[in-house]
Amino acid sequence: MTSSDDAKTAPAKAPAKDPWDLPDVSGLVVGVLGGTGPQGKGLAYRLAKAGQKVIIGSRAADRARTAADELGHGVEGADNAECARRSDIVIVAVPWDGHAATLEALREELAGKLVVDCVNPLGFDKKGAYALKPEEGSAAEQAAALLPDSRVTAAFHHLSAVLLQDPSVGEIDTDVMVLGESRADTDMVQALAGRIPGMRGVFAGRLRNAHQVEALVANLISVNRRYKAHAGLRVTDV
Ligand SMILES: NC(=O)c1ccc[n+]([C@@H]2O[C@H](COP(=O)([O-])OP(=O)(O)OC[C@H]3O[C@@H](n4cnc5c(N)ncnc54)[C@H](OP(=O)(O)O)[C@@H]3O)[C@@H](O)[C@H]2O)c1
Repeated sequence: MTSSDDAKTAPAKAPAKDPWDLPDVSGLVVGVLGGTGPQGKGLAYRLAKAGQKVIIGSRAADRARTAADELGHGVEGADNAECARRSDIVIVAVPWDGHAATLEALREELAGKLVVDCVNPLGFDKKGAYALKPEEGSAAEQAAALLPDSRVTAAFHHLSAVLLQDPSVGEIDTDVMVLGESRADTDMVQALAGRIPGMRGVFAGRLRNAHQVEALVANLISVNRRYKAHAGLRVTDV
């Protein structure tokens, strides 16, 4: 048999999956831990405005409810545990200082959930912002280590909370780098990012490469300070 015969008899290889063929996540409930802060509120506002069901979480349920009422668009507020329990996808938007303790306390509620970490471990001194070096490699890897029963991904690091929260801004003109260990999970997060007008989720690797994505925010803060801007990012040629 010649090699061309081989090619004729070999089972047809499945065509490569179109990377932009993403699942429909419109029916999923999105929770935001630390959803009373600028980043969490901004994401909640944009997702809810796009038609997603959103629950924001807080350490105090009444704070979350007050913030949810301000946001409108059907956003609900709850304490972080109830927010995690009732959501399919849970965005972690607490400060780096409270990251480990928050996730450790919610391990049970977050089991089986798609967790999206957007936490940037940063320090600030008189020279500006700089990236911290978490022991686990990154905030996302710390989340994965603390939540062995959850599907941990990382995304939404490079957004401006100012633009997210500004109702006069119609579109959020940026790409979102999405990292994770499973294609099904990163596809869902890309699809979620794509629900927000102007925003596009782009797969950017495994969690072991989350550090530089988180760290890049220190550079964006420098850009913002020099140019008085709210810089976003675009990945070209994809
Ligand atoms: N701001 C941005 O533009 C931006 C952009 C991309 C990513 N991020 C990342 O998103 C995360 C949130 O940013 P943010 O500016 O919204 O932060 P933030 O206002 O400092 O914190 C968000 C919320 O987290 C809760 N919180 C505060 N300290 C906590 C602690 N020790 N443990 C648990 N919860 C605590 C607070 O809610 P309650 O008091 O109601 O519990 C607070 O409203 C950060 O990790 C940041 O790196 C921010």
